[in-house]
Amino acid sequence: MRETPGRGAICWVVTGAGHFLRESVKLMASFKNVDVFLTRAAAEVAPRYGVIEAIEKSSRTVAGEEGYSSAPIIRFSGGAYSALVIAPATANTVAKCVLGIADSLASNFFAQAEKSGVPIFVLPTDVERHVESVTPSGRVIRISPRPVDLRNTDALSGFPGVAVARSAKELGALMHQFSG
Ligand SMILES: Cc1cc2nc3c(=O)[nH]c(=O)nc-3n(C[C@H](O)[C@H](O)[C@H](O)COP(=O)(O)O)c2cc1C
Repeated sequence: MRETPGRGAICWVVTGAGHFLRESVKLMASFKNVDVFLTRAAAEVAPRYGVIEAIEKSSRTVAGEEGYSSAPIIRFSGGAYSALVIAPATANTVAKCVLGIADSLASNFFAQAEKSGVPIFVLPTDVERHVESVTPSGRVIRISPRPVDLRNTDALSGFPGVAVARSAKELGALMHQFSG
């Protein structure tokens, strides 16, 4: 059965990451009333992983990154969303969020959700010293996230109102727990 955390809809940002992408999209399908936003990088990466159709099936709307001010952020203060999910979240987006930079779709949504008291769930790609990832062509590759990226993931975990998951399974558990 599909559910919604809290009473409103979910705003789900997909960033330009291949790692955890298929798992995130699979999880998305277990929730209803999901509005998906793709960062510019995600609009390039997600089609290469063949997940656009699944994203469209799992969501009520899909939008891309347009303009400089991320106009849809006003929906957070307007109470349109009961949760913001950023999954998968690139090292780039996590770094911006940790530093308080708000100059891209994902970092702007993060800042505005936080300012509006909307709970945030993040699944960073860089969670362990060594990760195995899958390329768009299906090849398994070994990646060693940089210390700065791991530090940023840890720092984000300390933000009030932000739940940081280290796997798609954990993200699902945190979100279902929140749904009550
Ligand atoms: C095929 C492909 C896969 C990628 N996967 C990742 C990833 O898993 N994690 C990551 O941090 N960056 C990844 N990147 C790099 C990001 O797309 C890039 O840093 C981009 O600027 C992130 O922008 P965004 O955070 O606004 O989405 C990938 C790039 C490509 C082309």
